[in-house]
Amino acid sequence: MSRVRSSLPPRVPVLVLLLLTLVPLSESKLKLKDSPSFVEVMYNENGLLNCEIAEFTGSELTPQNLGILWSFTSDTKKSNAFVYTSGIITEKWKEAELLTSSIIRGNMSLLLKDVVNKHAGQYQCEIYILPNDKATKTVTLEVLARPTVIVTSEKIVEVGTGGEMALGCQLSGYYPCESNTEWLQTTPAEGKPNVLTDICTAPPVKNPDGTCNITTEVRLQPGVEDIGSTFTCRVSHKSFTKPHQVEALVTLKEAEIHLSKASIIGSIFGSIITSILVLGLGTYFYMRVYYKVAPSMSEIQKPVQIIHQEPAELICQVSGFQPRVITIAWYLKRLNDAEMKLIDEWQDSNIFSFALNKDKKMEKVEKRNETGDDVWKVRAGSIQKNNDGTFSISSILEIHPDIFMDNEAEITCKVMHPSNSEAIYKKIKLHVDGIPPKLAHIIKPPNVQHDSSVTLTCPINFFKPHPLKITWYKEMHGEKIPLLFLDNANEENMYPDKYSHYMTGFNYSDHTRSVYSMLLFNATIQEEDKSQYFCKVEHIGLSSPAEEQVQLDITAFPSLDAILSDPVNPVIGKMLTLTCKVHSFYPESITVHWLKNDDVVESQTPETIQNSENGLHEVTSSFIITPTLSDLQCKYKCQVDHKSLMYPRFAEYIPEHLVSHPQVSEITSNSASPEVGKELILTCNISDYYPEDIQVEWFRNEVRINNNVKYEKIAEQNSCKDGLHSKVTTITLTPSTDDHQVEYRIEVCHSKSSTKPIKKCFQLCLKGSPKMSAFRMEPENPSYGQHLSVFCSVSGISHRNVTVDWYKESQLIKKGVTNTKPILNSDKTYKIDACLKFLVTAEDFERKLFLQYKDKDKGDKFTQHIHLPLQAMTPEVSEIECQPPHPKKGKKAILCCKIEHFCPMDILVIWSKGWTEYKDEKNTEIPKIDEKGLYSTVTRLPIDVVGGRTEYTCEVRHPKTNDIVEKTYVLQV
Ligand SMILES: *[C@@H]1O[C@H](CO)[C@@H](O)[C@H](O)[C@H]1NC(C)=O
Ligand SMILES: *[C@@H]1O[C@H](CO)[C@@H](O)[C@H](O)[C@H]1NC(C)=O
Repeated sequence: MSRVRSSLPPRVPVLVLLLLTLVPLSESKLKLKDSPSFVEVMYNENGLLNCEIAEFTGSELTPQNLGILWSFTSDTKKSNAFVYTSGIITEKWKEAELLTSSIIRGNMSLLLKDVVNKHAGQYQCEIYILPNDKATKTVTLEVLARPTVIVTSEKIVEVGTGGEMALGCQLSGYYPCESNTEWLQTTPAEGKPNVLTDICTAPPVKNPDGTCNITTEVRLQPGVEDIGSTFTCRVSHKSFTKPHQVEALVTLKEAEIHLSKASIIGSIFGSIITSILVLGLGTYFYMRVYYKVAPSMSEIQKPVQIIHQEPAELICQVSGFQPRVITIAWYLKRLNDAEMKLIDEWQDSNIFSFALNKDKKMEKVEKRNETGDDVWKVRAGSIQKNNDGTFSISSILEIHPDIFMDNEAEITCKVMHPSNSEAIYKKIKLHVDGIPPKLAHIIKPPNVQHDSSVTLTCPINFFKPHPLKITWYKEMHGEKIPLLFLDNANEENMYPDKYSHYMTGFNYSDHTRSVYSMLLFNATIQEEDKSQYFCKVEHIGLSSPAEEQVQLDITAFPSLDAILSDPVNPVIGKMLTLTCKVHSFYPESITVHWLKNDDVVESQTPETIQNSENGLHEVTSSFIITPTLSDLQCKYKCQVDHKSLMYPRFAEYIPEHLVSHPQVSEITSNSASPEVGKELILTCNISDYYPEDIQVEWFRNEVRINNNVKYEKIAEQNSCKDGLHSKVTTITLTPSTDDHQVEYRIEVCHSKSSTKPIKKCFQLCLKGSPKMSAFRMEPENPSYGQHLSVFCSVSGISHRNVTVDWYKESQLIKKGVTNTKPILNSDKTYKIDACLKFLVTAEDFERKLFLQYKDKDKGDKFTQHIHLPLQAMTPEVSEIECQPPHPKKGKKAILCCKIEHFCPMDILVIWSKGWTEYKDEKNTEIPKIDEKGLYSTVTRLPIDVVGGRTEYTCEVRHPKTNDIVEKTYVLQV
């Protein structure tokens, strides 16, 4: 039936694969408890119809996979008493009770309240457990009503007068209508009850509620010997466990009149009666043996419903015939048959055989199938002899109807009997029903993901016959658009690019079939969100198509980017912003929680931004914290709750790069005025940094101090408070005069928090020593070829017998010096302002300039020096010139190249001719300071002029600047 493909695409959901593997089920794992299949309930009482699961293995019993159908069939009607599908009670009689809580425990027993006659009939409990378990149980309910028994009689009856007495026994309001009433007499002589035979029973009368009334009367002519008798009405009915007895309140009394005449008359009458009796017997015997009585036929009885491929019985009742010779034949005439055909016939195997079967030659209905199971058979019940000597029989035709062949076929029961020359018959029309499919809710994945493949499964269960039409629709803008149409094996796919269809099916032993129709497609938000899909099924057993519907809600999982922190390296005590970007989710409703160590600290339901192209949403959530040291052990989470997620998703952030910048104090000295030869301790406090790694270095005038130098001693003391580290570093020295105005510097480098070292300086000024100011230059940036003035003042000089001199390297400078004489200050010290003015040339490049102070009394010397901030300059090389410009062949000439404006002086000049280098030829003049204050020189190469083309190169290298300049000259003669 289904179009099976050789291989499934890889994205067929697991459910489908599961179904496919489960499908060829061999035996149901569902077993019901044994319980009585016949229940009798008293009128107006409650009745329990048992149906309980004894055993179920395989899957779990959930409201979604369970279906229960309690159907009811009586002679007059068929209906559903209780229907439960996928957790919902869809149909229920008001008098029926079955709790959903009980269903889930596997107890599907139905309680009927205040049972009345109309409840009597067959109940069927059908249990379906998806995908493929089914169990059925049938319970017949009989409603019983106890008769009210009333005995009527005269109070006193005189016996011996030949008079009659009548006793009545009235039964009313009982059900079922079968009952038996007897009258018993107990005479004083015998002492035990005797059944009275001369009773008269009217047929039962029906009350409107279906119960019956019946009256049984007995007429007696009691004699004297009956005096003292008791009369009892004994009623047997289904509702009594043992016969119910009611005694008549009658008293027999002897009559007072004489009776001799009456007895004579009695004897005359007696002889007449005898002769009548003899005559009667003779008639009776004749009637029994020779008299032919024609049979009468009832209408053919058939079950309320005849179902495709389910055996059924048709009954033909023939009664009151004599003699006991009879043939009953069954015929079938299908809708398109011209004539009826014999199915089978039955003949009483009596010694008499009548050649009545004129139709014998007629061909029999062909066999139904090879197994022979479905052969239509005629059975007959045993012949019953009636009281009047006639016979009755019922013939039963067992049929196996097929809806396609036998629906609306005509069945005839024909009876042939010697009393009639013509056969008598009855006809009925067969109406064969299919079992309509039961549709379960369309199965869809719990979460339909955006841009992923989806399978919708329409379970169509337990139907027969097998032909089926399935249509898949989609509703868009209120309009139903057909997508796929299936008529048995023929598939018509309106959108083959989008939809594919698969089907699996399996057959049950009762010829019912279940199929799963699966529609496969790719779902996107734009096309499928909130779309309605319909599975419509048409079947011969359905008067109108059955339909199931499902709505698709498309979702898309949110994706979380890693949490960003600003600043990247968070600082203890400083504000830190964490940002979490959540994107590609649908629908838009989302909750973002910020968690610290798994405790929610903030919840947000932010506004989202929708991507117009794919419909997906995104959101950015921020959270501000001020981290403390304790946050080092903390985990921050950005957690999102979304419809598409079973469990929330999150991104994590651990402030593992949390830092604390060191606080570095100024360098302090233990003495306000250090003295030569006295121990001096310089201290610096470095505090509150994290992590612990830190580099501390001391410098003395730009030179790093090694701890193993004897002169200065560095000591460190570390401490830690609340996780933050501190350090006290000291340097101990004994200053000499050389240390005057020396700069001690500390550099603290905490690379975890900053790449820049923190620097603190301390200038050591010895007690009583003059202070030399920092050099001041005018202009601030000296340049070559320009004048520069350098100023420095020496103050705190105790007496006038001092000198102040300028030096360039070791050379004393006198020119351009304008030093003042010692000037007396208000604090009784002297001050000298020194100034040196000179033309800056390339010679000053990297040359030390210093001022020396000399105390002529003590012999103390202090110097202050400076390197001028001058730059190295690359030489400018001119083009090579030839002298003379146009030399003659065989003559001499000179190639000449100017190298100008460079600094420092060192250059290397290499001349080459072609590939050949000129060596050892001192042809470059010593550079001289030029008008720009830089070096310039000329290089010359004497050559012998030869004919043709010659190429000369002059390469100038300046090592300080790493520059190479090359010039080429081509001599063409
Ligand atoms: C099943 O349910 C019926 C009706 O609710 C109850 O009377 C009966 O006891 C239940 N059976 C079991 C085994 O619990
Ligand atoms: C049956 O008997 C009851 C009680 O005697 C009476 O009320 C009722 O009318 C009777 N029904 C019929 C159909 O006679």
